[in-house]
Amino acid sequence: MTSSFPPAFRWGVATSAFQIEGATTADGRGPSIWDTFAAVPGAVAGGHTGEPAADHYHRWEADLDLLAELGVDSYRFSVSWPRIQPSGRGAPERRGLAFYRRLVDGLRERGIEPFLTLYHWDLPQALEDEGGWRSRDTAYRFAEYAALVHRELGDVVDFWTTLNEPYPCAVAGYGEGRHAPGAREGHGALAAAHHLLLGHGLAVRAMCEQAALPHQFGIVLNQSPAVPVSDSPADAAAAARQDTLLRRQFTDPLFGGRYAPGLSAMFDGVSDFSFRRDEDLEIIGVPLDYLGVNYYYRLHCADAPHREPDPARRTVADIGVDTTRLPDVPRTGMGWPVEPEGLTEALVGLHNRYPGLPPVYVTENGCVYADRSDFADYERISFLSEHIEAVRTAAAAGVDLRGYFCWSLLDNFEWAHGYKHRFGLIHVDYETQARTPRSSYRWYRDFIAAERTP
Ligand code: NOJ
Repeated sequence: MTSSFPPAFRWGVATSAFQIEGATTADGRGPSIWDTFAAVPGAVAGGHTGEPAADHYHRWEADLDLLAELGVDSYRFSVSWPRIQPSGRGAPERRGLAFYRRLVDGLRERGIEPFLTLYHWDLPQALEDEGGWRSRDTAYRFAEYAALVHRELGDVVDFWTTLNEPYPCAVAGYGEGRHAPGAREGHGALAAAHHLLLGHGLAVRAMCEQAALPHQFGIVLNQSPAVPVSDSPADAAAAARQDTLLRRQFTDPLFGGRYAPGLSAMFDGVSDFSFRRDEDLEIIGVPLDYLGVNYYYRLHCADAPHREPDPARRTVADIGVDTTRLPDVPRTGMGWPVEPEGLTEALVGLHNRYPGLPPVYVTENGCVYADRSDFADYERISFLSEHIEAVRTAAAAGVDLRGYFCWSLLDNFEWAHGYKHRFGLIHVDYETQARTPRSSYRWYRDFIAAERTP
């Protein structure tokens, strides 16, 4: 017999500002690194940009009605930093704050709990011009911005996530050049990862100091378990390097009180890690109320030669691992292997590795498949239901799980892939902005209702 989720378990959906809002110059919003990056020819598929996205900035009310009809009790969204501080620092742009106040009030009126993320990758361009996340100063700017938003919305928002997925920000953004700001660096990307974590710790500290109410503070990490493609020691070592780069670089200082063992050895000659200061580990390790886990796939790792033999010229992603040898399992429209057991593995693995791990929410999980004309997306329904079962298995194994958020409510801007790949429970026609719920929307609605029935 399958065990039930606890009655207080949260069911939600997630989005992010740059991916759905559009209106990139409205109401005083400043440019972000994603506006700049998307304007570079060839950077984003199809030359797509943050316009029009799902025009959620203007259509938020109808979108909240769709959320209410879906029956979710929680909604995860992000605040666009350049709407609040167009140049990354200083006095707030009141019109930007007013938008999020309307949004949160609208959620509360519909009985939906807001889960606010402060940073989902849209750094104000002005800060990138000063070094971006490579610069320690950006961590302090982030904490100021966090405190500002928290001061303004602390009366209506209880769940405060600092960062969404610092790994791709640092590695895809500053290492591989696939994401904004499009850099290909070694030392700079490692510095970015460190400063993102530092910014997280400083932000939580700043918000805690002014929290009159029992707010919850957390961070969201992508967790792709790294598995070796064979039982050879070389492939096992490759998987360990991948795990260190993607997961332990972040989880060890956050929950283990130390820097990931092996990280500096992996980057010998690439970086001297001179960006670390004595006080940083304590700041980064500030106790948290929750961890958000985003899960999409496992990484299958084989040992491979470095692409660049000279460490001084090597990027952070060049760790001697080949992740292209996928197992013979079904794949989503992104080409990602469908392996729900990887979600159980990620959750149970964290629980076993870090004894003081805070309660966990699955803050993103979802998929892309080609649409049929009637928007009957049976593959998405089975993907979601199998992954929810994987969460149930992890809960039964003792992981303190508090909620599940599907990615995503609406089709949206899938970063370097532009608008081609559609993750939504709701189809968006980007010409007309018409919203059409897919079958998975109705399935999730009925699933949640059934889960709530005693
Ligand atoms: C994780 C990111 O947080 C989100 O922005 C992205 O769209 C999904 N992964 C799907 O790739």
